[in-house]
Amino acid sequence: MEEHVTRIGVSLPKSLLEEFDSIILNRGYSSRSEAIRDAIRNYILEYKWMEKEEGEVVGVVNVLYSHSFKGVSDAITGLQHEFYNVITTSMHVHLDKEMCLEMILVRGDMQIIRKLVDRISSTKGVANVKLITAIKE
Ligand code: NI
Repeated sequence: MEEHVTRIGVSLPKSLLEEFDSIILNRGYSSRSEAIRDAIRNYILEYKWMEKEEGEVVGVVNVLYSHSFKGVSDAITGLQHEFYNVITTSMHVHLDKEMCLEMILVRGDMQIIRKLVDRISSTKGVANVKLITAIKE
């Protein structure tokens, strides 16, 4: 049985769409819709995987942000103090004149780490957050 298809309209910044289009062109997608479907599937998979993970984990939270966005650096530092008991260390990389990469090494209960990731993700000015768990104890 074929699944019913729903059409949606999405508003995007022009630069984001241009970047997306150039990536899907390189990757050989035949249509933008197909690439967006794949991206949404990946997003759902990643979220479900993160929801499922439990217990003690060791990993790294990569946070990409623009340091000139007001308050974002302080917010990220504040969150690291709040979650100090699951943070081993962190490293800051000035990627270019604008962008920063904060790599936060985490070790502890996945439920707490997930909260940290959610809080960083919902911080204004944060461009991207990715949690990679290295070892499951
Ligand atoms: Ni920086």
